Amino acid sequence: MTTQLLHHNEQDIQTAGRLLAAGGLVAIPTETVYGLAADATNGEAVARIFAAKGRPMDNPLIVHIADFGDIRRFSLVREIPETAYALANAFWPGPLTMIMKKGDAIPDAVSAGLDTVAVRLPAHPVARAVIRAAQTPLAAPSANLSGSPSPTSAQHVMGDLDGKIDAVLDGGDCAVGLESTVITLVTEVPRVLRPGGVTVEQLRSVLGEVDVDDAVLHRLAEGQVAASPGMKYKHYAPKANVILLSCTDSEFIGYVNSHAGSGVAALCCDEDIPMLRGVMTISLGARGDYDTQAHRLFDCLRRIDGYGSVQTVYSRLPATDGVGLAVCNRLIRAAGFEVIYLEQT
Ligand code: TXA
Ligand code: MG
Repeated sequence: MTTQLLHHNEQDIQTAGRLLAAGGLVAIPTETVYGLAADATNGEAVARIFAAKGRPMDNPLIVHIADFGDIRRFSLVREIPETAYALANAFWPGPLTMIMKKGDAIPDAVSAGLDTVAVRLPAHPVARAVIRAAQTPLAAPSANLSGSPSPTSAQHVMGDLDGKIDAVLDGGDCAVGLESTVITLVTEVPRVLRPGGVTVEQLRSVLGEVDVDDAVLHRLAEGQVAASPGMKYKHYAPKANVILLSCTDSEFIGYVNSHAGSGVAALCCDEDIPMLRGVMTISLGARGDYDTQAHRLFDCLRRIDGYGSVQTVYSRLPATDGVGLAVCNRLIRAAGFEVIYLEQT
């Protein structure tokens, strides 16, 4: 199959819409990461997403809509809880996904057999324009091969999926750079299953009490069922071995310098670069600038693979306030939960 490269103009948006309405697969830009979209009401089209990505069938997809009214219009959920109206008012369109009881229109392939469905109204105008052009809600996971870092540019998508999907619509680099916050509204207390651009602090300011699922920062115990199936997989991982250090800034410099050598890299902050010796440095941004760190993280993880010779990457375990929690969640998975705790001074 030849994968068409489409551009950010009205004609190409209509082409994307036609391909999707006919059951095709098109990668589209969103403000978080690129999504691999198919008609969410067409079980066969949705099944092709799993095949193209090599995604485990037990991992459900997010349904993307162009307007809040699409939830009812397409019978996506059984009922809209009060909490969903409050969150939509505050954060939609934007990087927030809400899980609700699923409605009749959702094929089993989308919900992976669960009785719930995840719904998101993206902020990227091209994403919404494509949904409107397709005249159907779009199921879309991140447009990467399963297990590799999520794509934040059309080039990343092409690198993973060229020849496997009908088209990629290039809408430029993604602003947020990390996938949406996923919150379930079917538990007694709303619970964050995946942290993202909308922070836990922001969610609490609207809803009051909000829980954070254990799986956000911890490996599930053997046999424990994941509330969000995607959280149980090793994820976002470059081919090199990522090792996280829980330590102070000076301990980080000392540890990395004492492990320097060929094949060693540091995924670090701008301020570390002059102090590190004999290792390749890849900066996520200024210390404490979580938005930039989030924006660059997946591109940095992909660049590490591009260098080929890198075998070990050291990075710091980030702080967990604000968007830091999302950066930490992705880095911990990239590291396969491998964290070295240095003595705190
Ligand atoms: O920002 C995003 O959310 C991007 C863009 C394309 O919108 N999409 C994305 O999709 O990250 P994906 O499939 O890579 O991640 C969806 C996550 C997975 O961890 C999945 O297990 C979880 O959401 N999920 C989806 N439906 C769910 C459900 N009904 N119950 C629990 N978790 C669900
Ligand atoms: Mg993904």
